[in-house]
Amino acid sequence: MDVYEAVTSRRSVRGFKDKPVAKETLERVLSAAAWSPSGSNIQPWNTYVMTGASLAELKTSAIERVAHGDPWDKRQYEMYPPMLKSPYGERRSAFGRERYSSLGISREDWEARQRAAIANWNCFGAPAALFCYIDRDLGPPQWADVGMYLQTVMLLLRAEGLHSCPQMAWSQVRETVAEALSPPDGLILFCGMSIGYEDPAVGFARTGRAPLAETVTFVDD
Ligand SMILES: Cc1cc2nc3c(=O)[nH]c(=O)nc-3n(C[C@H](O)[C@H](O)[C@H](O)COP(=O)(O)O)c2cc1C
Repeated sequence: MDVYEAVTSRRSVRGFKDKPVAKETLERVLSAAAWSPSGSNIQPWNTYVMTGASLAELKTSAIERVAHGDPWDKRQYEMYPPMLKSPYGERRSAFGRERYSSLGISREDWEARQRAAIANWNCFGAPAALFCYIDRDLGPPQWADVGMYLQTVMLLLRAEGLHSCPQMAWSQVRETVAEALSPPDGLILFCGMSIGYEDPAVGFARTGRAPLAETVTFVDD
């Protein structure tokens, strides 16, 4: 698979088969992803991979919490600014409309939206997940390094015939994740990522992108 195909075939998949993912495959992907760039090569990613019974237990604990209406854990970082200014607010709303209409859920149907959201903590059925932490003392450039690393992981997964979904939703139940993983003090859970083979029976809407001229400026004379 060439890089263009890896980039354009990557999307956030939200329906996986229960077919297991081989540990050697995950090791190959994560070994290659370690070649991602980072400022001064500090490699600020801290990755935990979960599969099997330990992931199944984590999913159950997280879903039980959410289903009981437990409040989210105290935030370690803000997912979005409280007021998303233009054009970001419009893009976020458009994504919400696309996502829920593809599931046949209306804007007003709060319960159905909750049910769809709960699928996050079942990893959308995926048999593998990673959890990526960053040291709380690091700043925006290092968070960007982690983003590059995670995208590299997702592209390499495509080369292995696998799909993924990055999920900040896991940061909302970070204490439940920490109970399972016991990360060292001082690490912040940025996100989880579901990993597996796509279930083609699950429908999806391909998310769009802003036209090139909205986000890229060429300066050529
Ligand atoms: C850091 C990050 C966190 C995300 N968190 C979630 C999440 O918690 N749940 C979810 O379903 N999708 C999540 N997404 C997926 C985005 O909604 C998705 O990337 C975006 O809508 C573009 O769609 P695409 O990935 O299919 O191209 C996240 C993406 C990123 C990059």
